[in-house]
Amino acid sequence: MDLKLKGKHILITGASGGIGIELTKQFLTEGVNVTACYNREKRQLSDLMESFTDNLLTVSADIRKEDSAKELFTQANSRFGRVDGAIANAGIANHEGVSVSEMSLDQWDNTLRVNLTGSFLTAKHFFQNLEKYPGDDASLILVGSTAGLFGEAWYSDYSTSKAGMHGMMMSLKNEIVHLASRGRVNLVNPGWTVTPMAEGAVSDPIMVSRIVQTIPLRKIAEPADIASTIVFLTSDYVSGHVSGQTVTVAGGMEGRVLFTPDEVSDYVDRYTSKEKW
Ligand SMILES: NC(=O)c1ccc[n+]([C@@H]2O[C@H](COP(=O)([O-])OP(=O)(O)OC[C@H]3O[C@@H](n4cnc5c(N)ncnc54)[C@H](OP(=O)(O)O)[C@@H]3O)[C@@H](O)[C@H]2O)c1
Repeated sequence: MDLKLKGKHILITGASGGIGIELTKQFLTEGVNVTACYNREKRQLSDLMESFTDNLLTVSADIRKEDSAKELFTQANSRFGRVDGAIANAGIANHEGVSVSEMSLDQWDNTLRVNLTGSFLTAKHFFQNLEKYPGDDASLILVGSTAGLFGEAWYSDYSTSKAGMHGMMMSLKNEIVHLASRGRVNLVNPGWTVTPMAEGAVSDPIMVSRIVQTIPLRKIAEPADIASTIVFLTSDYVSGHVSGQTVTVAGGMEGRVLFTPDEVSDYVDRYTSKEKW
């Protein structure tokens, strides 16, 4: 199906990551001009540069910093003009879980700075670009997480930053229409996805088992599962009347299994022997 995205200009943050690289590929395949923001290393973006020289601009930016976000949009505008759509996808999560009583203020601040402030700065400079280049259509997609819906023990910094995306999305969907009459803002919440961010968990068979116990579709998402939903929502042709929505791409997951079978065995034993708990 033609999503009629050809010739549009889409900016993606976190484009060198697992979901970001897949997003970049899918948009390029749709004939989109892509500004791909990476932080430290281009990784597979370098290979894409060889095949899509005319349609891909890579820019290094630390999305925590306003100067950096501003410069990202300046470079994007000077290469491909108006940014028609932005995907605030950059994010971090600590690999090791930490209880809130042990969490350093530095960790808390940095996670919120990248995930929430970084999305704010992406939205801010995307909206400034809409002021500079008037037009009717525009799409902003924030990338949250199921952790923002269900919480995530030992990752309260991460889940808090992702829960904040909902308020941002609900506010900005009402602001964007003052700059672009058909402008839309949506939130995509991936669940567990096979990327470097989730590497530790998804390579541990016990953890994989616990994860899929919470998912009716019994599968951990591939980056393509998340990217194709974002591409679909970015298209004004197929999603032009979809705004202010949270789309969760998590195989129907409703929550988390909180305990291993060992950790609930006391209760299960008493329950089966009809002892009062
Ligand atoms: N994978 C999952 O299971 C999962 C689940 C739910 C939600 N998500 C969300 O999906 C999004 C993409 O995650 P992913 O799984 O693709 O993770 P990933 O592979 O770790 O990629 C994260 C990307 O964000 C970039 N980034 C980190 N700090 C940055 C900064 N200060 N400025 C600019 N860019 C920065 C990284 O660049 P560098 O590596 O160069 O720093 C990388 O390109 C994130 O928002 C994440 O929270 C992922």
